[in-house]
Amino acid sequence: MTHVSEDGRTWLLSGPAGSYALHVTDRDELVHLHWGPRTGPADAEALAARPLPEDWPFESRLDGREEYPVEGGPRFVRPALSVRAGDGRRGTEWTFEGYETGDDGLRLRFRDGDLTVTLHYRMRGDVIERWAVLHNREPAAELLRADSATWTLPDRENWRLSQLHGRWAAESRLIRSPLTLGETVVGSRRGHTGRQHLPWVALDTDATEERGEVYGCALGWSGSWRISVAQLPDARVQITGGAGHDDSGLLMLGTGETYVTPVFAGLWSDQGFGGASRAWHAYQRAHVVPDADRDRPVLFNSWEATGFDISEERQRVLAERAAAMGVELFVVDDGWFGARTGDRAGLGDWTPNPGRFPGGLKPLADHVHRPGMGFGIWVEPEMVNPDSDLYRAHPDWVQFQPGRRRTEFRNQLVLNLARDDVREYLWERLDALLSSAPVDYVKWDFSRCFTDAGWPDDPYPQRLWTDHVRGLYALLDRLRAAHPGVAFESCSGGGGRIDLGILSRTDQVWTSDNTDPLDRLAIQHGFSQLHPARVMAAWVTDSPNVMLNGRVSSLRFRFVGAMAGVLGVGGDLARWTQEERAEAREWVALYKEIRSVVQRGDLYRLRPPEGGLSAVQYVLGDETVVLACLQAQHFGEPVPALRLRGLDPGATYKCRDTGEVHRGAVLLHHGLGTGLRGDPDAAVFRLRRLRSTD
Ligand code: GLA
Repeated sequence: MTHVSEDGRTWLLSGPAGSYALHVTDRDELVHLHWGPRTGPADAEALAARPLPEDWPFESRLDGREEYPVEGGPRFVRPALSVRAGDGRRGTEWTFEGYETGDDGLRLRFRDGDLTVTLHYRMRGDVIERWAVLHNREPAAELLRADSATWTLPDRENWRLSQLHGRWAAESRLIRSPLTLGETVVGSRRGHTGRQHLPWVALDTDATEERGEVYGCALGWSGSWRISVAQLPDARVQITGGAGHDDSGLLMLGTGETYVTPVFAGLWSDQGFGGASRAWHAYQRAHVVPDADRDRPVLFNSWEATGFDISEERQRVLAERAAAMGVELFVVDDGWFGARTGDRAGLGDWTPNPGRFPGGLKPLADHVHRPGMGFGIWVEPEMVNPDSDLYRAHPDWVQFQPGRRRTEFRNQLVLNLARDDVREYLWERLDALLSSAPVDYVKWDFSRCFTDAGWPDDPYPQRLWTDHVRGLYALLDRLRAAHPGVAFESCSGGGGRIDLGILSRTDQVWTSDNTDPLDRLAIQHGFSQLHPARVMAAWVTDSPNVMLNGRVSSLRFRFVGAMAGVLGVGGDLARWTQEERAEAREWVALYKEIRSVVQRGDLYRLRPPEGGLSAVQYVLGDETVVLACLQAQHFGEPVPALRLRGLDPGATYKCRDTGEVHRGAVLLHHGLGTGLRGDPDAAVFRLRRLRSTD
């Protein structure tokens, strides 16, 4: 709902719990008024009537107060918008042109000569989506920087910053630290979202898991990006973010051209970190992730079982064992195409390896389909091995700087998806592939960063950074439209491409190459701060964990941990004993019973992964599921009962696993005994609220 003041210069947007207000002064300055609990129009107008401070030579009256600080004039903050006009002038001096409101939002239009800047606000529940649209008449103007939005926090003391940082196989680690004066900058200059930081920050002063105010901002962009959290000299805090890491040039806006920034979404919650996460999850399920009301199937992925050593025969054996276990989707990972028998050759040649799949993929796909499973394959379309037919034919299709070394990571180079011919080639190859066999699922990988982002033939090669991502989006959108039955997974050497942008066109993401069940608890805890279980792929793999740390763990512990997301199995089933396979079958069956609650329910993080006992709870309607993992038990330290949340204190709940009936108030205030002992140990509890008819 949007309310507009009588003079058409103050706006109030409201969601179910929160409000956002802004105002254009009589000097056409766009100032922020309010972001927080629901307020009324009179409150917004009272805030708008408060005078801005006076200008003086050393400080700006606008800094820390503007909705979208531009470069130039009396400002010293990092600008959201920096433009070099056709005549060489830098900066922006705009006039307010007007506004439009709709059911769910607001558009504000400003003009500076030939450049129009339109700022968009759209309410999605209590999440506010913001983005900017820049349109140029002539002559061409260079966009040095165009952030999506700048968020302003209220004046408070002792801000604390939460971020999700990581590296390969240790993604999305939650870090909380006091915010200091100056700027904290997170981002990626790697060409993809990156696992060094997820594009999200949260700020609070005294929140706990279930109480207190939390402000969160998340960017929907899958290329290089930057979010800067600035605490200004007067302690005001602003968060500005958008595509691109630097201010050195985003793209050239030619005559009549338009640039639309990605969405930078903001959420205010007074329900603590847990409430903020639940609101983010609900928003993504309702407005971002495609078909989010459809539960994701249990998959098997062959990567850890076979590596590159794959053959149709071996895949058939794995598929039979997976089907017998109750798996619903069988995914052949890397190694099925071209000369890809290791990581040195074949990337780019998306036709089945004739030695490994003499009849193409169809015979295997049919075999997989027979017991009712879906069939999936791995691809990495944005990459090429120099030892490939594609590269031999088109060495200029990769990103490169003329006369300089082409840096190879994992023996591969990055194709330039900003080029129309490259996108067209990939479209034809992938469309043909999806038509050649009944494929239901595509795991789309991106396993190295940009290093030599050059494009010798283009007059403005820098645009490659943004246009590669837009090219990727266009390709995914086209493939999805042409093959509506195919689901897509975003992978980037593990969790290197997870953001709201890719999530709006993929069905789930690969969380991390780290499948060790203990390490996973911390990765999943961080992931869940922003993203829902519905998109978080989690596999049960072999013990000892051969990929990483050699840790030995029980099937029980591995399954319970992986059930917190979209369950998958990734072990070498050819070597699993009959007992192990029988046990796994039971866990898979159990997961199928609880998955709608896990994938679509409200998440309560009962206990974090540090320490002995960690647990998560999901609530959907009358159903509640608790997944509890005891990492270590120390003598003399009893395992605590789990105080559940999100229940009705006046209701009674029956636990299907213990047969016990509990009173809601008792579960909320005194907790559920887990009976876990020894380490590690894990358990699933399914509780149902009893109705008088039960
Ligand atoms: C990446 C992925 C893995 C696997 C390999 C295949 O590292 O994260 O899951 O697909 O590539 O090469």
